[in-house]
Amino acid sequence: MVQATPFLLVLFLALGAHGLSVKKCNLTGRWVNDLGSNMTITTVNADGIFAGSYHTAVTATSNEIKVSPLQGAVQKSPNQKGQPTFGFTVNWAFSDSITVFTGQCFVDEDGKEVLKTMWLLRSRVENIKSDWKATRVGINVFTRLQLPE
Ligand code: BTN
Repeated sequence: MVQATPFLLVLFLALGAHGLSVKKCNLTGRWVNDLGSNMTITTVNADGIFAGSYHTAVTATSNEIKVSPLQGAVQKSPNQKGQPTFGFTVNWAFSDSITVFTGQCFVDEDGKEVLKTMWLLRSRVENIKSDWKATRVGINVFTRLQLPE
């Protein structure tokens, strides 16, 4: 028992230090995706509910692009291990469409946070016969927007 104590102490410290050093992916902040769209997530509450704004770089319409609100949720289960899954909806302020994104917040091998997402863009169509052409699908990769120093 006496011999085991220092060993257990070292093990405990090593595990503790490892736990402390693992960087977690945090959704709050400003992000840019591979299309050049900008997104800001303002607050994430204790239940994982969040809100923010989205400035798309592109549109499927001929309308003037406006900054649009988003609302979402990030998984708060303990199994997420600092790389949580999430989803959010953008209710476009300048078109009749809605986009839903789902994804996971990763920390890559360089320690950089990356959001890997898939999206569905639902456009409004005039009638049920046109439903087949109403949905687009794609992927977007977001990285944290670096502020100039
Ligand atoms: C519209 O055109 O009706 C609204 C804008 C849609 C922009 C889409 S959403 C998925 C993709 N990712 C972006 O950042 N912008 C486009």
